Amino acid sequence: MELSQLKNEFFRRYDNRTNDPVIFFSPGRVNLIGEHTDYNNGFVFPCALNYGTYLLVRKRNDDRLILNTLNFEFSDSLNIHNIQKIESGEWVNYPLGVISEFIQRGIQPGGMEMLFYGDIPNGAGLSSSASIEMVTAYALNKLFDAGLPDLELVKLSQHAENTFVGMNCGIMDQFAVCMGEKDKAIFLNCDTLNYDAVPVELNEYQLIISNTNKRRGLTDSKYNERRAECEKAVKYINKKVSINHLSQLSINNLHLLDELIPDKIIRKRARHVITENNRVLQAVKVLKKGDILQFGKLMNESHDSLKKDYEVTGKELDALAYEARKISGTVGSRMTGAGFGGCTVSIVEKKQAESFIEKLDIAYRSATGLKADFYLPLIEDGVRQI
Ligand code: GLA
Repeated sequence: MELSQLKNEFFRRYDNRTNDPVIFFSPGRVNLIGEHTDYNNGFVFPCALNYGTYLLVRKRNDDRLILNTLNFEFSDSLNIHNIQKIESGEWVNYPLGVISEFIQRGIQPGGMEMLFYGDIPNGAGLSSSASIEMVTAYALNKLFDAGLPDLELVKLSQHAENTFVGMNCGIMDQFAVCMGEKDKAIFLNCDTLNYDAVPVELNEYQLIISNTNKRRGLTDSKYNERRAECEKAVKYINKKVSINHLSQLSINNLHLLDELIPDKIIRKRARHVITENNRVLQAVKVLKKGDILQFGKLMNESHDSLKKDYEVTGKELDALAYEARKISGTVGSRMTGAGFGGCTVSIVEKKQAESFIEKLDIAYRSATGLKADFYLPLIEDGVRQI
């Protein structure tokens, strides 16, 4: 949607035209490799997208906080001094959670008029929630001169999601949508939070995102279950080797899992985390050398591990990933995000992109009865004012 159109929508809801709203944008993200490693203090490699969330916001002279979105039938007005979770309103808890984090830090915002508009598909694993949180955090920081550094905005947004919304996510999504850079992927060490922005030069290849359009079901509870399983693995290992998290083990320590973890499921979960960290390290290395084919191979291995060891793919993601690999010109394909639905990301020869979409569309429909959606994303900068 054009900015002028968004502004018109703003003025349709907030009719006083004396001051323009300030406009912010936060991207969604796609993770290229490094899945379910962030909450294990491991490595991830996401990039920010050209799809995301717009926020038009204007200060008021009173204590009213008025929230609107163009994505759903929704409008609410509340007192900014009395921010509480709204039980029935899932999306609105993202901005409310962020506002509440500011208040807990002693930064009390005044009244505001807000209009959100997102062009990321919801629940598709492209971080629409982190995008809403980050655009709110960035806007509040600017509007009320809070002076919080970017990393604090990242942590505060993650904390809002963990405590206010109740989803126990890691730091990857908020970090990527804040720190993302055009045409670069963020190689992040989730333990130290040191990162390197690595150029993604795909030359004759391009990224294609394919959406399963599977309705979000048990994602949150299964996600928390995986986290608990990783903690259990750490406990088993601690009987002999003292570690705080699984990412302290390298690929050379894999034998420890057989020795110390009697439970087969827990052993598989730990193996995924350790091998996935290793794949991220390899992937960054080969991308820097321009070896896209090897990068694609690592993406395939990542998906296989998420299917067999971590068991977070499911019929729909598997259909998209494995059918994609059969199509000529596909270099690699894997699920991205939490899994159990959502999207895959593939690297495909540019000249085959159209036929990739045609063929995968048909194959996916016949495997699942569902219709997939396809996106040719650009890698863009992180959150910003426009
Ligand atoms: C979700 C979470 C992230 C990360 C991924 C899996 O997107 O929000 O923190 O754990 O799943 O890699």
